[in-house]
Amino acid sequence: MTLAELLPSTGCSTAPVLEPGLWPDNTRLDGSDLVLGGVRASRLAARFGTPCQVLDELTVRARAKAFRTALPDAEVVFAGKSLPCPEVYRWMAQEGLSLDVSSAGELALARAAGFPAERIIMHGNVKTAEDLKAALEYGVSRVVVDSFDEIAQLGALARHGQEVMVRVTPGVDAHTHAAIATGVEDQKFGFSLASGAALEAVLRVVEQPSLRLTGLHCHIGSQVRHVASYEEATRRMIGLIASCGVRIEQLDLGGGFCAPYLPGESSFDLFGFAQRVRGTVNYECGLHRVPVPRVLIEPGRAVVANAGVTLYRVCAVKHGASRTFVAVDGGMSDNPRPALYGAGYAVRLVGRGGRPKPVTVVGRHCEAGDVLAENVLLPADVHAGDVLAVPVTGAYHHALASNYNQVCRPPVVAVKDGVARPVVRRETEEDLLRRYL
Ligand code: LLP
Repeated sequence: MTLAELLPSTGCSTAPVLEPGLWPDNTRLDGSDLVLGGVRASRLAARFGTPCQVLDELTVRARAKAFRTALPDAEVVFAGKSLPCPEVYRWMAQEGLSLDVSSAGELALARAAGFPAERIIMHGNVKTAEDLKAALEYGVSRVVVDSFDEIAQLGALARHGQEVMVRVTPGVDAHTHAAIATGVEDQKFGFSLASGAALEAVLRVVEQPSLRLTGLHCHIGSQVRHVASYEEATRRMIGLIASCGVRIEQLDLGGGFCAPYLPGESSFDLFGFAQRVRGTVNYECGLHRVPVPRVLIEPGRAVVANAGVTLYRVCAVKHGASRTFVAVDGGMSDNPRPALYGAGYAVRLVGRGGRPKPVTVVGRHCEAGDVLAENVLLPADVHAGDVLAVPVTGAYHHALASNYNQVCRPPVVAVKDGVARPVVRRETEEDLLRRYL
C-alpha cells in the first residue's frame, strides 16, 4: 500500500488526476501542469504574480444557469457578498439572476455594474441610515427588514410603496458551523417565529403607510448539506404565512447550498432540492388554504466557490518536530476560512508530480493559526519557487480578504477560452498608503 493510500483523503493527490467535483469545469491537466479555462496555471502565476485568484467564467455562468434550470419558476438571487465584483455581477445580470446586497458598498458595485435596480434586494441585520438611503435612492426593488428599529426608520425614509420582506428566524438547525448557522433561535438575525416577533414585524410593516409587504424571508445558514433543513424551514414559513392573515406574494428561502471543498465531498442536490421544496410549498399551501407564493432563493457559494482557484508561490520549506511546513506568499489575509470555520482545502503542486509526502501549508502572517491546509500530500521535493494551486476559492475569499500585516490583496483574474483577464487588480502599496493621514 502506498503512503497516499494510507493517508486520509483530506488532501491532495499527486497522481495526474484532478479531484472530481472540486475544480472549475474547464480545468484539465497537461501532464502535471494545470490548465484553467484554457490558460496554463504556470503562465497565470508568471504573468499576474502570486497569490492570484483565478476565476473560471464559464463555470460561474454554468452554475447560475443550473439554478435557473432547476427552479424555472423561482427568482434566483445571487448573494453578492460571496464574490463582490462588478464584472461578476454583470455575468449574473446577463444570466437572468437577481442580486442581493448587504451594504451601500455592495450596492455601489452593483451600480457600477449597471445592475437593474428592479432585480436588487437589500439585506443585513444592520442597515445604517446611509445603507437605507443608498438603497432608496437607487430604487432597489425590495428591502429585507431585520429589526423593529429598521421598520420604523425605513418607514420614515421611504417614499410610498417601497416593497419589503420580513426576515424570519424559523428555528431550524441547518447542521453547519455555528458561525454560519443563522436559522436557529437566539442569534442576531431576523425575527423569531417561535416568540411571535415575526408576526409582530409583519403587522408593524403593514401599519407603515410608506411600506408594502411583499414577502417573508429566511436564511437558515451557509454550507448547508441537507435538503431536509430547507423543507422544514419551508413548512414553518408557510405556517407563518397562513397565520399572519396578510397576502404574502413571495417566499424567500435564502441561500446556503453547500459546495464540495475536499475530495469525496458531494455537491448540493439541487434538483432534489427543487423537487422537494416545490412539493412542500404546494402541499403546505393547500393544507393551509393560502395562495402559493413565488419562491426566491439566494445562492452565493454554490455559484462561485468551485469556479475559483488560488495560486500561491512557495517561499520556504521548514521541518518541525513532526510536520513539514510549506510556507507560501499568501495566507489568512486572502483566506481566513480555515482560521474562522476550520475549513479544509485540497492543494496541488503545479507543473510537477513526484513521490507524495504529507505537509502542512501555512501562510506568511504573524500568527501560528495562519494555516491554509493541514496534512495534504505534495511531492516530497517541494521547494521554494514552486507554484501551488488551491481549488474552491471562488466564494468568500476575495470577499473576506484583508490587509493584515499590510499585505496587498491579490487580483481576481477571469479565464475563458484560453484568455486571461483581470477583473480585480492587485492591490498596491500606493492603495494602502492612500488611506493613511
Ligand atoms: N442570503 C443571505 C441572507 C445570506 O446572509 C447569505 C450568506 C446568503 C444568502 C448566501 O449564502 P451562500 O449560498 O453563499 O452560503 N463567510 C462564510 C459564509 C457567510 C455567509 C453569509 N451569508 C464562509 O466563508 O463560509
